[in-house]
Amino acid sequence: MRVLLFTGKGGVGKTTIAAATAARAARSGRRTLIMSTDPAHSLADSFDVPITDQAMQLTANLWAEQIDAQQRLESNWREIQDYLVALMNWAGVEAIQAEELSVIPGLDEIFSLIDVKRHVDEENYDLLIVDCAPTAETLRLLSLPEVMNWYIERIFPVERRVVRAVRPLVTKITTLPIAGDQFFGAVERLHRNLEAVRRILTDEKVTSVRLVVNPEKMVIAEARRTYTYLSLFGYRVDAVMVNRIIPDSVTDPYFGKWKEIQKEHLATVHESFQPVPILTSRLFDREMVGLPLLEQMADEIYRASDPADILFRDNPIRVRKRGQNYVLVMRLPFTSRDDMDIHRRGDELYVRVGAYKRNLILPQTLQRLVVRGAEFVGEQLEIRFTREREPEPKESSARSASTRRRTSDG
Ligand SMILES: Nc1ncnc2c1ncn2[C@@H]1O[C@H](COP(=O)(O)OP(=O)(O)O)[C@@H](O)[C@H]1O
Ligand SMILES: [Mg+2]
Repeated sequence: MRVLLFTGKGGVGKTTIAAATAARAARSGRRTLIMSTDPAHSLADSFDVPITDQAMQLTANLWAEQIDAQQRLESNWREIQDYLVALMNWAGVEAIQAEELSVIPGLDEIFSLIDVKRHVDEENYDLLIVDCAPTAETLRLLSLPEVMNWYIERIFPVERRVVRAVRPLVTKITTLPIAGDQFFGAVERLHRNLEAVRRILTDEKVTSVRLVVNPEKMVIAEARRTYTYLSLFGYRVDAVMVNRIIPDSVTDPYFGKWKEIQKEHLATVHESFQPVPILTSRLFDREMVGLPLLEQMADEIYRASDPADILFRDNPIRVRKRGQNYVLVMRLPFTSRDDMDIHRRGDELYVRVGAYKRNLILPQTLQRLVVRGAEFVGEQLEIRFTREREPEPKESSARSASTRRRTSDG
């Protein structure tokens, strides 16, 4: 089964393009399910039919479902929440406030993603298309399985043993609520599910992320940050989709300036995301609602290609701490290594190796650091970052005897 995640800033056209992609895949004979984790239930608006929490068939090979996030929260978090609420009540927090505090923002959406695992397990479909919530939340929730696992793996094995040992004692001397086996059972189940979701979403053979943007400054800036973090967490973007491009056929001078602006932004998109493929969609003369229009849109976007294909094999970037320094590792296969130019400007990193260019937004940790040098280790380019400039001239540190390399910072 293939999984496609569509994400991007609110209003750029994620739901529409996800729906169009689903319609086209279904028409070509793939059993396709489109599901939305976005609480702003717009999938129904897009297809112009009511859509519920149960997968419902819209046409041949096409099913849709709108996740009920509240219900997913109830079934995954209730037992954990009960204990947290009891604990907070014991500490003097009012009941209603404790209820509110015990729900971590974004949790309901991450539980919606557990449905991805369910569908992959059940194998009822060839293709699963996920229309995600707006970017910031999606990103946080996509990284959550990793973060949660980290905590759970480190804290819970110890906790459970300790609790077993001290429970009889503690209940005698205090009223402090002690977590019961239900709580640990729920935590373990959640852990297993989230780990499975993470494995599916970061499996390069299964999942691709498609970033939807408009040719607008702020939208592109946010998409570039999203790309960096998706890449860092191991999610692979296989296409950037630029939506709402004013077509050439529009010659009204009123839109002349807009067309110029869009052209510039389109160039930025190419510079920022290459070598990831850029697919485009024009601004249509109406709202793209209902199957026929969605199919038309998908045909224009994908042309002869299969939307379910892996359109690009991206290699996630990694950041490692090495002593006091950080190393950003990116895989750059098939590049000539003799002529390298790397520099940081503000929060951006420019990398050029031979004819290969990369221009990305740095993760927060690296934004205030200085590029110290870079070298290839096998197919991996390792870029070293340090906290401060060393007194010697900055260029020398990155130059090696056999090759011309330049790194700078500013
Ligand atoms: N290329 C396009 N041309 C015309 N209308 C579009 C286009 N893309 C999206 N729309 C319309 O814009 C609105 C918002 O799109 P939507 O897909 O719901 O955005 P998002 O899911 O990113 O919030 C919808 O009414 C949709 O029909
Ligand atoms: Mg939407």
